[in-house]
Amino acid sequence: MYKALLVSLLCLCVVMLFTCKDKTKPPAPGELTHISYRPKPYPYNLPEGFPRFEVPKDNPGTVEGVSLGEKLFFDPLLSADNTMSCSSCHFPHLAMTDKKARSTGIDGKEGIRSAMSLINVAYYREGLFWDGRVKTLEEQALLPVEDSVELHNSWDEVLNRLKKHSEYPALFRKAFGISSIEEMDKYLAVKAIAQYERSLISGNTKFDRFRRGEAVLSEEEMRGYELFFDASPDLPDAECGHCHNAPLMTTNEYLNNGISEAFTTEDFTDKGYGLITGNPLDNGKFRVPSLRNIILTAPYMHDGRFKTLEEVIEHYNSGGKHGPNVSPLIRPLNLNEVQKRQLIAFLETLTDPNFTQQN
Ligand code: HEC
Ligand code: HEC
Repeated sequence: MYKALLVSLLCLCVVMLFTCKDKTKPPAPGELTHISYRPKPYPYNLPEGFPRFEVPKDNPGTVEGVSLGEKLFFDPLLSADNTMSCSSCHFPHLAMTDKKARSTGIDGKEGIRSAMSLINVAYYREGLFWDGRVKTLEEQALLPVEDSVELHNSWDEVLNRLKKHSEYPALFRKAFGISSIEEMDKYLAVKAIAQYERSLISGNTKFDRFRRGEAVLSEEEMRGYELFFDASPDLPDAECGHCHNAPLMTTNEYLNNGISEAFTTEDFTDKGYGLITGNPLDNGKFRVPSLRNIILTAPYMHDGRFKTLEEVIEHYNSGGKHGPNVSPLIRPLNLNEVQKRQLIAFLETLTDPNFTQQN
């Protein structure tokens, strides 16, 4: 009896020893399964009256993915010399632009185009960049890291740094459920960045509140609104709303708004959309940009040629320059000085302070 008790006690100790040992066993090098993976769906909260945007089936937003993407977006580890990140050209307080006519990368080399605002970027379903050369945010995010006038690094090097980092392996595990560090790759990194970019939704400007009946526009803003959208029979039609329509303030089309003089389709220094479609009639066309937060994103146009909104309005008022494929909506508007100021007052109602302060 005494002997049997001793044996069973011994057995119990052995079992306990094993189970304890199992619990405290350190994970194998590179293993991440001891970190919990319980992703929460990210609520892409659409402002009232906004259309839905498409989220790729293989990259649904999660709270963990968006937060990893945000960290990567702001991390200079992405650049060869650790000096620049995505946010060096896309600053939140400048509505994700950089104040420059053309962006410069880590080697001080200047690119050919102006950095684009990433606000409401999830809505650009007809292609990304001024010329629409890329289809998805995931595909786009692969490019700046290796672009020689941007971050001028290699993904191999970025992954080396991410894998050795004290926080990233756990964050990749939490966002994507990978079981070891070896599974970290560039495709997961860009999925996270794209999730973050989709979360940059802005729809709470004075103009939005006016549309929802929650705010009143001043007299000047109201006249600007009517000029912009041709909403009053007593005022001229400034044509803006046909290309920059509400609520996104863009139709997503590729058009020539007459900023460059051209006698033939070969005369454009930057052929824009034509380089992508191969159709000479698309030369000199660029994607209609959204005008949300426009007062924060000077200088203007794909090459930053206009420093101020006054110059932009002057351009449209003049009827633009001659070109073989300029949109017929670009024509002399004959606006007087008061009306030009009213248009700018309206454009100022498109700024979303919540957005730029929160981020
Ligand atoms: C050196 C400055 C620079 C850096 C760094 C940079 N960008 Fe950009 N970004 C630009 C410029 C310039 C454009 C427009 C290029 C064009 O149209 O040819 C652009 C365009 C974009 C667009 C297209 C937006 C649209 O509306 O179509 C996205 C998305 C974007 N960048 C995301 C990123 C991400 C993500 C990173 C980091 C991985 C990054 N950018 C790093 C300058 C930069
Ligand atoms: C035919 C379509 C069309 C009409 C009409 C039009 N725009 Fe544009 N707008 C564009 C295109 C296309 C661009 C980009 C052109 C480029 O960069 O080469 C643009 C660019 C802009 C920009 C610069 C945006 C940026 O991010 O740099 C502003 C500001 C602007 N438009 C305001 C207006 C206003 C105000 C009106 C009315 C007076 C107007 N637009 C009428 C198509 C149009």
